[in-house]
Amino acid sequence: SRKIYAAILGAGTVGTGVYKLCQSMKDDVISKTGAELVVKKVLVRNLDKDRDPIDRELLTDNWKDIIEDKDIEIVIELMGGTTPAKQYILEALEAGKQVVTANKDLLAEHGEEVMGMADKMHADLQFEAAVAGAIPIIRPLKQSMAGNNITEIIGIVNGTTNYILTKMTESGMNYKDALAKATELGYAEADPTADVEGYDAGRKMAIMSSIAFNSRVTFNQVYTEGITKITAEDIKYAKEFGYVIKLLGLARNTPDGIEVKVHPMLIDENHPLATVRDSFNAVFVHGEASDDTMFMGRGAGQMPTASAVMGDIIDVCRNIVHGSCGKIGCSCYKELPVKDISE
Ligand code: NDP
Ligand code: HSE
Repeated sequence: SRKIYAAILGAGTVGTGVYKLCQSMKDDVISKTGAELVVKKVLVRNLDKDRDPIDRELLTDNWKDIIEDKDIEIVIELMGGTTPAKQYILEALEAGKQVVTANKDLLAEHGEEVMGMADKMHADLQFEAAVAGAIPIIRPLKQSMAGNNITEIIGIVNGTTNYILTKMTESGMNYKDALAKATELGYAEADPTADVEGYDAGRKMAIMSSIAFNSRVTFNQVYTEGITKITAEDIKYAKEFGYVIKLLGLARNTPDGIEVKVHPMLIDENHPLATVRDSFNAVFVHGEASDDTMFMGRGAGQMPTASAVMGDIIDVCRNIVHGSCGKIGCSCYKELPVKDISE
């Protein structure tokens, strides 16, 4: 069968999970796409770290090994941060490669630029895993719910803080220990400040708002307040009055403009969002025609996030093989010979 070569940038929590799925799902990918997906390179900073189960021969610390390799058709960016991720993604798109990423920092700050490059190059740029881990929410907002005037999105969109608040509420664990455990479980960002201060949730709300409201909302337009000031006493008193504390993201498209914010809120213990525990996330979408729709699932962690990345990779493989994207300039585009009608 046709081979599609890919490179994974980053072999941390998510990169390793995606590598495992690329290996374990080889036959499924062939039957779903008609192509064999081959991971040809894995970019890391430190070549000496143990990368089990990644084959050492695949490792490189040199981006040139990937960008200059004409065989590599898909770049899967799982490094995080904006530098050098933005540069690498722009260069990959410019070189005619397709891109899959889970990088909400980049999309919430430079989404317009990288999506502009993907459009210019008629390339795929897919990012389902950037918001709410395993939950399918980007595609539903872009496609399934597009025939709708979406007016409001409310969500628990950070797994680390939801895990911390759950442990503080249910097991009396202290904040520091709960954060350490969330980090150990692979939920937290490399710098967990983004999680606990609400920046990560703010970035995800900015991405969803841009898509849902067909507009451009960047992270610096989002009000954020995290969970660092919440004490065990706050949680105890909330509980006594029948409430739980959750870090919520709220986005509204109002006649006066779009309003996006993230802050802790008291929620009635019988409300559906109160039952979203541990690293689970949930997103409510209100549309004028659709009414309320709720999405729920694991919002962080190695394999849940890898599953969303893998879904994007499979979609990109299908587009390459079947040419279903139909974009001129895309690697799926084939110029067929046209018969000479004068003959
Ligand atoms: P990690 O910190 O675990 O892994 C990052 C990897 O990227 C490491 O292997 C690191 O290499 C590599 N890397 C970082 N910078 C560079 C660089 N300049 N050049 C080469 N390699 C580099 O992060 P995660 O796997 O947790 O997250 C990856 C991305 O996925 C982020 O954008 C994150 O926000 C997103 N995400 C994470 C989720 C999760 O649950 N963890 C969920 C959803 C999205 P080295 O090992 O050598 O240091
Ligand atoms: N650090 C993020 C979280 C990872 O805890 O939700 C998923 O985006």
